[in-house]
Formats: sequence, C-alpha cells, structure tokens
Amino acid sequence: MCGIVGYIGQRNAFDIIIKGLKRLEYRGYDSAGIALINNEGKLNVYKTKGKVSELENHTIDKDISGNIGIAHTRWATHGEPCTVNAHPHFSFSESLALVHNGIIENYATLKENLQSKGYIFKSSTDTEVLIQFIGHIMESNDIDLLTATQLALQEVVGAYAIAVLEKNNPNTIIAARKSSPLVVGIGENEFFLASDATPIVEYTDKVVYLKDEEIVAINREKDIKIVNLYNVETTPEIKQITLNLGQIEKGGYPHFMLKEIFEQPGCIYDCMRGRINMEADNVVLSAVIDYKERLLNAKRFVIVACGTSWHAGLIGKQLIEMLCRIPVEVEYASEFRYRDPVINSDDVVIAISQSGETADTLAAIELAKSKGAFIYGICNAVGSSIPRATHTGSYIHVGPEIGVASTKAFTGQVTVLTMLALTLGKANNTIKEETYLSIVKELNNIPEKMKKVLELNNQIIELSRMFTYAHNFIYLGRGFSYPVALEGALKLKEISYIHAEGYPAAEMKHGPIALIDAEMPVVVIATKNALYDKVLSNIQEIKARNGRVIAIITEGDKILSNIADFCIELPDTIDCLEPLVATVPLQLLAYHIAVCKGMNVDQPRNLAKSVTVE
Ligand code: M6R
Repeated sequence: MCGIVGYIGQRNAFDIIIKGLKRLEYRGYDSAGIALINNEGKLNVYKTKGKVSELENHTIDKDISGNIGIAHTRWATHGEPCTVNAHPHFSFSESLALVHNGIIENYATLKENLQSKGYIFKSSTDTEVLIQFIGHIMESNDIDLLTATQLALQEVVGAYAIAVLEKNNPNTIIAARKSSPLVVGIGENEFFLASDATPIVEYTDKVVYLKDEEIVAINREKDIKIVNLYNVETTPEIKQITLNLGQIEKGGYPHFMLKEIFEQPGCIYDCMRGRINMEADNVVLSAVIDYKERLLNAKRFVIVACGTSWHAGLIGKQLIEMLCRIPVEVEYASEFRYRDPVINSDDVVIAISQSGETADTLAAIELAKSKGAFIYGICNAVGSSIPRATHTGSYIHVGPEIGVASTKAFTGQVTVLTMLALTLGKANNTIKEETYLSIVKELNNIPEKMKKVLELNNQIIELSRMFTYAHNFIYLGRGFSYPVALEGALKLKEISYIHAEGYPAAEMKHGPIALIDAEMPVVVIATKNALYDKVLSNIQEIKARNGRVIAIITEGDKILSNIADFCIELPDTIDCLEPLVATVPLQLLAYHIAVCKGMNVDQPRNLAKSVTVE
C-alpha cells in the first residue's frame, strides 16, 4: 500500500514525479504529498488530502521548481487520511523530509523515547516517528544521513520502503526497503525511484530492485551505492524491464478494470504461450520439470493466498486433487501465518499472488519455509518479493493489473494452476491420456470462448441497469463454479459497495435461503456440467420463494431459460475449465453495476491494490 516516487537529474522533478504518482495511485489514494529542493536550496513540502490531482491543484501557484524530489500517495494505516498525516514528514529541525510505505511496529516505543527528549509530533503517523528518529541520530552524533538511516533502521521493527531528502544535500536521495518494494531506475545522468517500475518505464528500461534491508544512496553526480544496514556494500544488479507504456495506460477504455476484463483472451494466450505446444497435445511448465521429484513426492499441497488469489486457490485444489490425486488444502495466508500449522518437509506450499507483495502471503511463505516446506509461487508482478522468496514457480504473464479489483490475474492464476495440475498429473500417471489431451486441447480454445463471452457486454449493461437498486446479492455455484460464485460476489461488493455473499448452492437450505424474497437477486452459475441437475433443483428452491434468478447457463439451455428470470448464455466447455469462461460475465456485471451507481471503479473506497501491511 502507498506509492513512492523519486527523481534526481537535470529535468524538472515535479512533472515526472506527479505523473509517476498517478501511475501508482492504485496503491493508495487517500492523500498525497511531495518534497522538492529548489535551485536555491529551499526544501518545499506540499501535501493534500485526497488524490494526486488535488495535490496538483494545490501546487498551481506554488514554487515547484527543482530537479530533485520525493513524493507519496497514501493508504492510511496510522492516523486518519488528512493533510497533517499525509507524507512527506519532516525531522524536528525540518532539514529532512521522508516518505514511507509500510508499518513501523515499534513506533510507540520510539516515539515515547523521543518525546522524553523533548521532541514534539505534529501527526499521528509512525512515519513522522521514523524521520524524527533519523534526524535525532544524525544530529546528536553529528553523522551523515546514510549512516543515521542505517543506525535508525537497525532499531526499527516492521516493514518499510522509504525515501529521504536532505535540505543541505541537494545531490542525494537516500532510500531503503524491508518487506515493501522499491525500484531504482537508471537513466542518462538521472535516476528514478518508485514502488514499482510503472512510473519508470517511460524513461528507462534499466532498473535495480532493492533487496530487504538494503539502503541506496542515489547521487546525481556519481552513481548509486547500495549498502546494507551494517554498511556492507553490494554491487547493484541491473535488470532490464520488459513493460511497455501501452500496458500501463487505459488504451481508450473508460477504466482500467474494463480494459483488463477485455484483455483476458490475449492474457490467457500469453500465459499459455511457450507452455502448450502448437499441436495442443502437451503442456510443459518448466518449473515443474526442474523440480519434478520434489513436487511429485509431496505428501500434500497447501495453497496460501488472499482475496481473489485465494479463490483461484480453491479452483487449484479441485484441479490438483482431480488430476494428480494429491491432497490439497487451501488456507487464507493471514490465518495460516498466525496458527501453528502442521507443515512438514515433504509438503509443497503454493503461494498465489498477483502483486507478489501481499504481506500475509509473504509471511505464510516464510513460516512454511522455516518448517522445511518447498515453496512454489504463482505470481504476476515480475521481480516482486514473493517470486524472490519462493524456491521456484510460474509467472502468469498477464501484464500489469492496475484496476484495484483483480480480473485478468484471476483467470491467469487459474490457467497456470490448470497447467500445473496437467503437468503433474501426466508425470504422476494419475491422468488418463484421453482426459489429458481433451483438457489441453480445450484450454487452447478458451481465449476464443472468452471472446464470445465478451460479446455479451451490451446484454450485461442492460441487466446491470435493472439491478443498480439492489442492496444485497447472493451468488451460488457448485463444484468448480463455487469459487466462481465467491469471486463474483467479491467483485460486486468491492467496487459497487453492494453487499454480496457467495455460497455453495446446496448450502442455501442450511440457512441463507431465509434471505430469499422478491427483492433478492440470486446469481447462479448453472452451466451444463456434472452438477447441472443438482443446481437446477437449487434454482427451483429459490424460485419457489420468489427470488430473482440471474442464471449463467450453457448456450441453448431451454430448460433454464424458461425458469430463470434472466439468463447469460456461455459457450460450452469442459467442467474444470468453466471458471475461465464463467467468471467473465460476473466481472462485467459487477463493473457495469458499479458504473451505473457512479462509483470509482478503479479505485474503490478503503482499498488498495497491493496490501503490503497485515
Ligand atoms: O496481490 P495479491 O493477489 O496477493 O492480492 C490479494 C488480494 O489483496 C486481492 O486479490 C484483493 O482481494 C483484490 N482487491 C480482489 O479484487
């Protein structure tokens, strides 16, 4: 959560930084701020509540000159979203300004200590404590900023990505990270700093991903110097980024979410490229081949993830159990990390994350690693923390996902899980050749089938208009469609703020059916799969209580088109691949309802794209 941007070079820092902050707004958007050192050596700090555009308006008549600066877009943790709590924060003498992403867990102790020495705090943030602490160490020991930052961070418990400006040193930015991402971009006589590569891609493709407990001194006239908290220097590992600008812009769509929904056929194709052969009769996931013995000897798989990625994990469980006959458990990473889970060295833990930065998932990985488990990561953001923390894994290759509501990452995750289950099942001889071939072949057809579903967009817009009034929704599914129901409900609630619950359809009669009345829309995934007849009975039960059924059905299903109030017809596919097709109309339904309600679809209230705090 929170986005950091920095610039040092020959150009005007403000324009580059504001553009960068806008690219990072998906990480948080309740307040924003910037610190710049102008050519006379004055340190100017501007902050506002609200989005980056508010900051831009606020600075129209201010001095925004200077070619060095740092900035922040915030998702509040300590202290309400307001101008005082917005970053940057000053040291006591106001000679240092700092922006921070993460949480300083021992801030209260540090603050008490500083207060006893006479320090006064303006904000309620842990961040102000950190910069006052750095300033205190620097001034009381008469040492440079880099050393003071090292000493301060040795005392800090928690997670941080920070950037610091020093008024008296307009040629250097000091930045550091632990458990929160930070990337340095290397241009011609200029450097960029950001929470991810999206603000940098426009200027350079050379980046250095900082590692945990590394501090970088970025000097305008020299180069970058990376040291750890104990001043041991390391050589920067320069990587080339493959992102392009088109991938991080809206490309004519009104929202990133809609763009990302429509990108899915191409994304699934990219995800399979090089992994499924031309004849569509073989899947090769290189990570599985490299660690075949370790994976096949697993007594059990444990999937850890959060939110939408957890829903993908529920589908992964069914796929792996069905095709590989290895037991799978699916855990919320946030619960797993604080239990005392039974994890053995012959377990394989699969960590799923779009951002690769989710704090709970990272902590679950560390816990499982400490117990000797082998860790397989399924991530989207290349070079993020989770792929670096795992033993091996597969990227989903769906490109940057910017809308806060996850869409293409979900279908990408399910695609990788399908390929994982197929590869393992084949190697394990637990899947019949015929079944294997039919799934691989059909997987290859999924992008075309998704395109057909996207053609239903106008029908779904009409439907959405009818349901904008609703205060509650129920989503039902069984088997592979149950996680799809959960995902449909999550999409709706997070962007439209309509309360929505997902249930396994047969659970209705154990309680939730009491909620059904003529006002209650019930979305049922009722395609012609192995559980079709069972779901049909569940729909009859809802209709008998006057519920309004929106059924997601297989093309040409005359029975359900006569029973349900509204139908969305999908192309037929194999049961285990249905989530890839059936999720798409639910994403569109949530999107259009939210748009009809006038909501900020890409940046819903209280949320952030990357949850780097627990
Ligand atoms: O980046 P991750 O996949 O680890 O993120 C997990 C969840 O925070 C994320 O899926 C969240 O639930 C989304 N807002 C869902 O749309």
